[in-house]
Amino acid sequence: MKQLNRREFLKLGALVAGGAALASCAPAAPAPVPAAPAAPAATAAPKAAAPAAAAANKKLEIFSWWTSGGEIEALNALLDPFAKKYPGIEVVNSAIAGGTSSGGDMKAVLQTRMMGGDPPESFQVHLGGELLGSYVAANTMEPLDALYKEEGWDKIFPKSLIDIASKDGKPYSVPVNIHRSNMMWYNKKMLDDIGAKPPKTWDEFFQIADKLKAKGIPALAVAESSAGFAAHVFETVLIANMGPEKFAGLFNGTTKWDDPAIKTSLEMYKKILSYANPDYLSVGWGDVNDLMINGKVAMMIMGDWTPGVLWSKGFKDFGWQAAPGNEGIFQMLSDSFGLPKNVKNREAALNFLRIVGSKDGQDAFNPPKGSIPARTDADMSKYSDYQKWAMDEWKKDKIIPSIVHGAAAPVAFMTDYMNAVNVFATKKDVDQTAAAILKAAKDAGLQK
Ligand code: GLC
Repeated sequence: MKQLNRREFLKLGALVAGGAALASCAPAAPAPVPAAPAAPAATAAPKAAAPAAAAANKKLEIFSWWTSGGEIEALNALLDPFAKKYPGIEVVNSAIAGGTSSGGDMKAVLQTRMMGGDPPESFQVHLGGELLGSYVAANTMEPLDALYKEEGWDKIFPKSLIDIASKDGKPYSVPVNIHRSNMMWYNKKMLDDIGAKPPKTWDEFFQIADKLKAKGIPALAVAESSAGFAAHVFETVLIANMGPEKFAGLFNGTTKWDDPAIKTSLEMYKKILSYANPDYLSVGWGDVNDLMINGKVAMMIMGDWTPGVLWSKGFKDFGWQAAPGNEGIFQMLSDSFGLPKNVKNREAALNFLRIVGSKDGQDAFNPPKGSIPARTDADMSKYSDYQKWAMDEWKKDKIIPSIVHGAAAPVAFMTDYMNAVNVFATKKDVDQTAAAILKAAKDAGLQK
């Protein structure tokens, strides 16, 4: 099995400038689906090993961090049709929960497998910088331009999405969905009880938060027992203060990371956090939805995997809107699957990717997930009112990438940014945090 050499291993945290391709680069003419790189010259396997190798060729192992509610239902909507279509293949659902914001524990196990030259047939990964700046930079993934051409995806996925998936004009993963991260969810009854409409601006938020505070109720649910949630929310504050172009400019060099809006946003964020659940440093991502469901906190700023979780818990009395100051701005991320080099069962992996990108696969996966399909030919009769609204937004909004959810920047920056805001959530030191974020941007090559 091919092991990563030292050069490739060091590249794993590679800093690839800018994940979200805002500059459009037309995909080059597709190369044929490359044969798997020549495995080391096969020596006569001892008899005993043959059945194991043969068994390995009859498996499809998929890594993800989807372990709750709508996530499990959605993943099964991809794995079940595969199992039916390829009954001879054993489907291994290696879903690992927990860790930081999105899949920390799964990503750690996956990295060990990838570095050890023992990749699963495929794995969940965010479209863009998260994959391009790690496993693609480490030369451990096959390009998928020929598969895109063969399946007609170059005509059916939005070009902006293919650009985000691509490095040097070749896409390296298949997007199964589009999630929106800059959303606010709210407990309808709690806002009705104080005669409040959901806040369109942060000033309106503060007015509502003071009314709730007078009743001893925290306005905003935050779950910062590990780095990530607070950084996710802070992106919406940056967007509200910068606007979409200036925010997107942080990742293509037109906006500096010491722009005054960074400190202005941190000062505002200090005030916002004073209205959060006071125990936010000990609340985990898995528990935060229950705070709003149980009427402990009135609002939450989280991505639109949230409805999938709320629906799976039988909670329907919630409303939604763009986070304050984020109206008309769709901060995107996408869950995707790629093709590691040297997988044991390459044909099964390719057949799984064909289901991931298919109309049936996406119209089965997305309804329970809360996301919208990456394809532009969805059967919208299968989707909720929220998703129909989100689809309209996707078509008309300004599209910008998420940092915390892997679309905007290299993995190294994502991690440093999340850690800097995690420290801010504790110490509330504006200058220290602005300096840490600027250093992270320079270290990641996002600012000279
Ligand atoms: C949640 C979603 C997943 C998404 C992630 C964003 O884990 O289930 O689909 O990619 O959040 O970080």
